[in-house]
Amino acid sequence: MRRVLAPLALALALAACGGEPADPCESGPTFTNTVKEISDAKCLSCHSKDAEGANRAGAPVGMDFDDYASIQPILSDFADALTSGRMPPMGAPGISGTTPAERTLVNDWRVCGYPQ
Ligand code: HEC
Repeated sequence: MRRVLAPLALALALAACGGEPADPCESGPTFTNTVKEISDAKCLSCHSKDAEGANRAGAPVGMDFDDYASIQPILSDFADALTSGRMPPMGAPGISGTTPAERTLVNDWRVCGYPQ
């Protein structure tokens, strides 16, 4: 079994390389497959079109993160607020801060140009 698989694995590895380093963004995080889940859990309670008045806890009116289109005008502010740990605000009831893993994922998403 080993003898058969080894050359195959080598061939696959070479084919995958193709002389160029693999593009990490090709399989990197997108809004839909990764960032939305983080934003929904850590941002949406205040930054939602459905949150009004006191329920926004002071989040600027109109700064909503319900979907990609609503975040698009401020993608870099959105990513920066999250990866810097500035948002969600410390001590907000019922909301825990982002984890280091979440910040890394959002940073990777930013580096790859905020794919939808
Ligand atoms: C508990 C409510 C609450 C949550 C949850 C929350 N925010 Fe905010 N957000 C605010 C408030 C209040 C402001 C306005 C005051 C300020 O700028 O600190 C604000 C302002 C902002 C701003 C503009 C000012 C700045 O710091 O850049 C951005 C961008 C932002 N939030 C992004 C986010 C992101 C991204 C998340 C999730 C990771 C998030 N917010 C979660 C309440 C919240």
